[in-house]
Amino acid sequence: MQVNGQAYRAIWLGGDGRTVEIIDQTRLPHEFACARLGNLMDACAAIRDMQVRGAPLIGATAAFGMALAMVENPSNESLETAYKKLFKTRPTAVNLRWALNDLKSKLLPLQPDERVAAAYLRATQLADQDVEICSSIGDHGKELIKEIWKRRGKDKPVNILTHCNAGWLATVDWGTALAPIYKAHEADIPIHVWVDETRPRNQGSSLTAWELGQHGVAHTVIVDNVGGHLMQHSKVDLCITGTDCTAVSGDVCNKIGTYLKALAAFDNNVPFYVALPGPTIDWTAEDGIKDIPIEQRNTTEVTQITGRAPSGEITTVLLTPETSNAANYAFDVTPARLITGFITERGISKASKEGLTALYPECA
Ligand code: MRU
Repeated sequence: MQVNGQAYRAIWLGGDGRTVEIIDQTRLPHEFACARLGNLMDACAAIRDMQVRGAPLIGATAAFGMALAMVENPSNESLETAYKKLFKTRPTAVNLRWALNDLKSKLLPLQPDERVAAAYLRATQLADQDVEICSSIGDHGKELIKEIWKRRGKDKPVNILTHCNAGWLATVDWGTALAPIYKAHEADIPIHVWVDETRPRNQGSSLTAWELGQHGVAHTVIVDNVGGHLMQHSKVDLCITGTDCTAVSGDVCNKIGTYLKALAAFDNNVPFYVALPGPTIDWTAEDGIKDIPIEQRNTTEVTQITGRAPSGEITTVLLTPETSNAANYAFDVTPARLITGFITERGISKASKEGLTALYPECA
């Protein structure tokens, strides 16, 4: 997608064919900067410290992390160690495990001296596959938006609410929840996006708003509690969110606050869709609430906030009394019954075991 008019992916192979380049998302929206990952530890740190984030991008970074580890040492022990180190970086995004298992199963049967080339080839294939998946989610989701646009009268923009960042920065390109929006925008369907700020890390106000702005899509940033009010007043035609892990039941684990938006949408008859890439389904998790552990992050993300001061300096300030306890649950589970449907790369499906197994019979 576009940054200052230039096409970028969120991760790519460096000019030397070995190092890996990323957009450092911790510096956005105030500074656009790229970072170079030169070894396994760089890849682990990039995921852990959220320079890269979002389930599909975490998966792609882990795949390149395995390739970087093979350059350092292609032995069986090094492969196992890299797998374990990368696996520990973030707990929720199921794409992490999916990508690591894929790389491990491809590399283990090979001789050590064959592994470097094979690892880079596979990591590149997975990154390209992610782009295809997201583009296809965009094509299917665009049709939903088009139907609403035709129904409502073509002079009015379609108002879409999204939570967190499930745009191209959360994937290799296109995004999941934002892919239908970009495709609709390209098809000249007028769109306006309500962007939840998404406390505590503010992926909405810092990343979603930034990438929509770079791409020229009209949007308004709102605090996380506004969505229900907007829906009561018919200001939201459609909600689309991403997912970090989807259970076989169709329950969706996504950024904290998604559940409350789904409840409000249900109460107001607003369609609530989840953009779901196949690799984000956890076929080992039957039930979202029972089987998906919820990541808890450092409480300073709640007690402090970082932004740009009028002087231009990036600064962090304390929001709470110094003695108050804080809790930082990073994700929640939205039950399948609140979800109108999944927008997948294979088409739209019901949020249910039947819906998922019909689309992905080879995984069921
Ligand atoms: O904690 P993050 O920023 O890695 O959060 C994950 C996400 O980006 C979102 O939950 C997103 O909606 C799903 S991933 C496309």
